[in-house]
Amino acid sequence: MSMLFTLIALTLSLLIFFARRHLQYWRRRNIPHDVPHPLFGNLKDWQNKRHIGHIFRDYYLKYKDSCYPFAGFFFFFTKTVVVTDLDLVKRVLIKDFNHFENRGIFYNEIDDPLSATLFSIEGQKWRHLRHKLTPTFTSGKMKNMFPIVVKVGEEMDTIFKGKTTFGESPVLEVVDLVARYTADVIGNCAFGLNCNSLHNPEAEFVTIGKRAVVEHRYGNMLDIFLFGFPKLSRRLRLKLNVQEVEDFYTRIVRETIEYRLKTKEKRNDFMDSLIEMYKNEQAGNSEDGLTFNELLAQAFIFFVAGFETSSTTMGFALFELARHQDVQDKLREEINHVLGKHNNEFTYEGVKEMKFLEQVVMETLRIYPVLAHLSRVTETDFSPEDPKYFIAKGTNVVIPALGIHFDPEIYPDPEKFKPERFTDEAIAERPSCTWLPFGEGPRNCIGLRFGLMQACVGLAYLIRGYKFSVAPETEIPIQVVPKSVLLSAKNGIHLKVEKLSK
Ligand code: HEM
Repeated sequence: MSMLFTLIALTLSLLIFFARRHLQYWRRRNIPHDVPHPLFGNLKDWQNKRHIGHIFRDYYLKYKDSCYPFAGFFFFFTKTVVVTDLDLVKRVLIKDFNHFENRGIFYNEIDDPLSATLFSIEGQKWRHLRHKLTPTFTSGKMKNMFPIVVKVGEEMDTIFKGKTTFGESPVLEVVDLVARYTADVIGNCAFGLNCNSLHNPEAEFVTIGKRAVVEHRYGNMLDIFLFGFPKLSRRLRLKLNVQEVEDFYTRIVRETIEYRLKTKEKRNDFMDSLIEMYKNEQAGNSEDGLTFNELLAQAFIFFVAGFETSSTTMGFALFELARHQDVQDKLREEINHVLGKHNNEFTYEGVKEMKFLEQVVMETLRIYPVLAHLSRVTETDFSPEDPKYFIAKGTNVVIPALGIHFDPEIYPDPEKFKPERFTDEAIAERPSCTWLPFGEGPRNCIGLRFGLMQACVGLAYLIRGYKFSVAPETEIPIQVVPKSVLLSAKNGIHLKVEKLSK
């Protein structure tokens, strides 16, 4: 018995010794860092108190003037580098991308096919898939999908009309309304479904879509394991997605493919492009093909990555426009002017002409980059010849986008909403990699054009028809949900909405 106790005590002492040694890694290397907590690393405040994007922003601002290009951090128990130097940002995202092409997050294509998305898969598989999917997002393809976006924009306008009357300004929670618009747009384009959440807020497609974002198979504690040890989790055959979510999307995608193959219906949307690749696979051309499971995972990520990101962006834009009536008036003037030139119709070319609208969206995404930090992992030792830049194999690398966006040396008065920061001339004066809401380099957001298009069309409809202003119910400053990975308003965004004559 005493032998057993001795053995247990010895094992525990060894574990503690190695854990402590591990957590002293940055100290041994003399890299600036905050002392990590033994269990939570440098994430002690996450989930309950502070948003992860804010933690990384403050870390960047604290260490950006040190003489090192990064600060040391522990993401729970995982060694992490928070980049604080723009040259290193460029090297990680672009110049030395071959060292940093993966995000190091969990996926398991065999047991959990929905998890093997373009966002999570790695190495050669990612390169190959990215190459195959890129033509799905060309400006030609965007133009083809434009009429679908406009049709849903009109429906959103009808819903807003129904909720407002001339001369009155009801207070509406706008995030939910615009989220139904983006859900319908992406539901249409990625799944070919008229999910109609604008008219039916409880539409199953959307409620299950929301569950896919917030609910994971084993709850919070195992999430830490899944994301902390993705490779081991894969070997243990763990899954991320809830069974009901998997079953639902598998059924929808199967039915859509069967229907389109049978009826030969063409809708020029994402699903059409994916089905073309599926047909190649079926014909034995796997070089240009996609298996059913690969198609399923990509349709799923297009929905998950494309719906909440764009709707939160629209919500934050409306919030800032409500607080800056002069900017809102200028924007409305532009929208009416351009629409006037285009027969009062929404055209692809017309929306492209709305330069100030684009500036408003860009400035919104500077202050509220929905994904506030970018992640990569080193596949090999990086820069072994230069100890200052050395990042060991397997280290997580975080680019604190929100920190860079709030750096007063790059954006003076960073908390102020100023769309004029994004005129062509002002952009040209700033160094590259200083605006990162869509990431940068070969692994940036593949849906950038689509995301901008749907946000711009939606906002153009709203600002043309309605005046938004703050109400006593408007929360200023907005509280964000600390637990969520994306930046989102905790209590929604409540604004006065006045119908304008047109
Ligand atoms: C305002 C809207 C959007 C924002 C702010 C946004 C933001 C981002 C960001 C920050 C990344 C990571 C980039 C990096 O690590 O360098 C990303 C990746 C990605 N986004 Fe978006 N996104 C938006 C809309 C969309 C849409 C509409 C789609 C699809 C229809 C989409 C699909 C994806 C995919 C598949 C990836 C992974 C790309 C890869 O790893 O190769 N996103 N997005």
